[in-house]
Amino acid sequence: MGKGKVKKLKAPRIKSQAQSKNRSLVLTGFMGTGKTSVGRIVAARLGREFVDMDSVIEAQEGKLVREIFETQGERYFRARESELCVQLSPRNDLVIATGGGALIDAKNRECFKNAFVVCLDASVNEILDRLDGAANRPLLADGDTRHRVEELLVARQPAYSKIEHHLDTAGTSIQQVADKIVLAFEEATR
Ligand code: S3P
Repeated sequence: MGKGKVKKLKAPRIKSQAQSKNRSLVLTGFMGTGKTSVGRIVAARLGREFVDMDSVIEAQEGKLVREIFETQGERYFRARESELCVQLSPRNDLVIATGGGALIDAKNRECFKNAFVVCLDASVNEILDRLDGAANRPLLADGDTRHRVEELLVARQPAYSKIEHHLDTAGTSIQQVADKIVLAFEEATR
C-alpha cells in the first residue's frame, strides 16, 4: 500500500467466542463474597442452568468439602476442582460459581478463557460478617479467622487481579450485585 493510503481496520462482523451471547458466566472471588447466592439469582434471570462447583464436588465425592479436606487433604480437593474446570470449560450457557480458591491456579483460569468471568470483591470486615463463622471453611478453621482471611487475601491478590471483571460488593445487597452482573454481561455480549 502506498504512502498516505492507510487502510482502516473494520470491526470484525463475527463475534469471537469470548464475546458471544451464549458464553458461560463464571463468578469467582474470596469465601463469603456471595458467589453462590448471586449466581443463583443471575442464573434465574438469564434462564440458565446454575452450577456450584463445591456442590458438584460434594455430590461426586459423597462428602462435604470440609470432610474432603479432613480425609483426603487439600491437594486432593484441588485436583477435583481442576478436573471440574476442564469438564466445564467447553460448556456454554451456564452460570458457574467457583469455590474461592478454584481460579488461583492459572491452568484453571485458562479453562474459562472464553467465559465472562467476574471476581466479587469485599473487604476483610465484610467477609468476616458474611462468613457467619468459619465452621464449614476448612482453610479458616485453624487459628485466628481474621488473620487467616487477611493472609489468604494477600496471597491470592496476584491471581484475583488477573480476572477480567471485578465487582466491589461493599454495601451492596445480593440482589443489587446480581443486577449489576446481569447488566454488565448483557452490555458485553450485546
Ligand atoms: C475455598 C473456598 C470454599 C471451598 C473450599 C476452599 C478456598 O468455597 O471451595 O473450602 O480455597 O477459598 P467458597 O468460596 O464457596 O466458600
